[in-house]
Amino acid sequence: MKILMVCLGNICRSPLAEGILQYKAEQEGLLWTIESAGTNGYHVGEAPHRLSQKVALLNGIDISHQRARRFTAADFKQYDKIYAMAEDVIDEMQRIARKDFDASKVDLLMNELHPGKNMDVPDPWYGTEPGYHEVFAMIDQACDTIINKYRVLNP
Ligand code: 4NP
Repeated sequence: MKILMVCLGNICRSPLAEGILQYKAEQEGLLWTIESAGTNGYHVGEAPHRLSQKVALLNGIDISHQRARRFTAADFKQYDKIYAMAEDVIDEMQRIARKDFDASKVDLLMNELHPGKNMDVPDPWYGTEPGYHEVFAMIDQACDTIINKYRVLNP
């Protein structure tokens, strides 16, 4: 399994999603590749937001080594599954990938937890620390579902 987590800046939500799913996959002994990217280039090369790093570490996950990169059309060739944190992220992915956009590989992350509800993971960028805890909890639950769903088929 090669999974890509995508948000806008690749510094708040998708670094948490990468770190959380990587941690859970390792705990289960799954040899999955999990990475993340952002649809805008404003923070390329930066480490995750300090509050994403803090909240991850409070939950035993170190994401400090991650560096932001931009989502590209070629990502559709590299990954089996691409999870977007929100609807506006999918719009941006379509704009970037154009003819290479492969809807069969894309879903909103929260649809794993609440199928068909099309819920966004809210962007904590303009908010304070509680928003990052809320986002962590949402992503954490969705990642549990992903592990349970795919681990039998993709060890
Ligand atoms: P993220 O949050 O998409 O969860 O990484 C954002 C971070 C930065 C910006 C937007 C969203 N920005 O426009 O700089």
